[in-house]
Amino acid sequence: MISIIDAINGRTSANNFDPTHEMSDDEIRELARLTNETPTSFNMQNYRLIAVKQAAKKASLKLAAFGQPKVTDAAVTFAIVGKMKGHEALPALIKPMLDGGFIDQAAYDGWIAMCNGMHAENPAMQRDEAIRSGALAAMTLMYAAHAKGLVTGAMIGFDPAAVSQELGLTSNEFPVMLVAVGKAAGGNWPRKVRRPVDEMVTIL
Ligand SMILES: Cc1cc2nc3c(=O)[nH]c(=O)nc-3n(C[C@H](O)[C@H](O)[C@H](O)COP(=O)(O)O)c2cc1C
Repeated sequence: MISIIDAINGRTSANNFDPTHEMSDDEIRELARLTNETPTSFNMQNYRLIAVKQAAKKASLKLAAFGQPKVTDAAVTFAIVGKMKGHEALPALIKPMLDGGFIDQAAYDGWIAMCNGMHAENPAMQRDEAIRSGALAAMTLMYAAHAKGLVTGAMIGFDPAAVSQELGLTSNEFPVMLVAVGKAAGGNWPRKVRRPVDEMVTIL
């Protein structure tokens, strides 16, 4: 198993995927399980994954993604779906911690009250938070896939309304990102340059 540092240094975006490679549901579930460990604000877990692996469904999704070939060439294209009103699901999500004695009633009530205070009347915050959660989840997914010898391609080149319709998203949901996952074919670009670190970081 490679280290996290190796994964950070080794991952690149793939454009070319082996179209004959398939992934089992167990392999997909394992990537989802690892992605599920992604932290979210208040542990709201305000995103979900849709793993599209059926050829016909990938073909429709590709149309909604401006025809990007990796949507169909990759074994699976994941949609990271952001959820508005994430605070509404929080009480049930953290109840097992109360029931298990991990937190007391005061901590449970305070946790929920603080989350509601930040989100209940603030749709912009709900959307920002869903994008933050979904983006972090996408990164976890990409590193998890890389560690398993797979390659990934993140995409925001899609029509959000068409993707929402194609995947049957509710009115409280929106697509944050698509991530193609599979085996590399030849011809992918080498690692891309980054600007010098001292131009990127300010140390105060
Ligand atoms: C949020 C996000 C959206 C992206 N959308 C697309 C896309 O729609 N199509 C595409 O070919 N590449 C897309 N990319 C890939 C970027 O171009 C790529 O990550 C960037 O050039 C850096 O290369 P690297 O990932 O190999 O380090 C996206 C990347 C990110 C992080």
